[in-house]
Amino acid sequence: MAEAGLRGRATAFAPASVGNVGVGFDVLGHAVDAAGDTVTVRRIDTPAVRIGRIEGLSGAFPTAPEDNTATVGLLAMRAALDLPFGFEVDVVKGIPLGSGMGGSAASAVASVVAANALLDQPLKMRELFPFALQGEAVASGSAHPDNVAPSLFGGMVLAAGDPARPVLVQVPVPEAVRCVLVHPQLKIATRDARGVLKNDYGIEEIVAQTANLAGFLSGCYTGDLAVIGACLEDRLIEPQRSGLIPGFDQVKAAAVATGALGCSISGGGPSVFAWCDSEATGQRVGTAMLAAFAERDVAADLWVSPVESLGARLV
Ligand code: HSE
Repeated sequence: MAEAGLRGRATAFAPASVGNVGVGFDVLGHAVDAAGDTVTVRRIDTPAVRIGRIEGLSGAFPTAPEDNTATVGLLAMRAALDLPFGFEVDVVKGIPLGSGMGGSAASAVASVVAANALLDQPLKMRELFPFALQGEAVASGSAHPDNVAPSLFGGMVLAAGDPARPVLVQVPVPEAVRCVLVHPQLKIATRDARGVLKNDYGIEEIVAQTANLAGFLSGCYTGDLAVIGACLEDRLIEPQRSGLIPGFDQVKAAAVATGALGCSISGGGPSVFAWCDSEATGQRVGTAMLAAFAERDVAADLWVSPVESLGARLV
């Protein structure tokens, strides 16, 4: 790595992520290092932020710097640090748009990590989080941290405490655990997936979800796969969103029948994830989930990857 502050250009990769992890709506997410976005940032003399090229997977990406997830964080960084120079950004999208795989977060994270390497006095990774979160907010209409935090730090991250200033907690996950992520080739905008959610929740639903989130986290800390499996069940959000994903019930049934610890919607969907106790189980479960989507004539992509994984880094 070149010396910070002396380089004119830097490239960073940020991984995809599974938001909510079923039981932690808007507060829990984990990285999926098998896919991600790559952003190159150039330091320019002009005191502005510009978008250069957007390549890789296609999609209708905003081209105005104040609307694009990859540049909004840099606008915020420039303003907060009162930088006399600007940035130009090239994005290579490796995460499909509207997939529920944290693509907007990954672009936002990769761009602030790359730009940070161009600062005369680079910030700590933790200090980059608020800037990336602003990029996420412009893309999805909500500053939820459950994709940005794991994409930045890797592994599984809990945003605890005050939502306005969350305490970010790295939650240990048993090393053997694999996340099976299946992306049906359909699009659901996060805004739309949030739009279907009701605002009022009964006390029974809240108690059930609280019990599952607490149990799931305790299973992760103690490495107890039986507890993880018993608690990885979304009682709050999944019932409201599952109808947006063709074949969801069959895909989930296939995952559970072939040995998954649990299965739910990744972020706002349509991607579906399952946690498994090993690589071999993960491959078996993934094959069954793909077959269940195929039964409904839905083409899908599959990744099987460890949950304990790296976050964003310079490349
Ligand atoms: N927590 C967010 C949601 C994640 O479920 O709407 C979106 O990827």
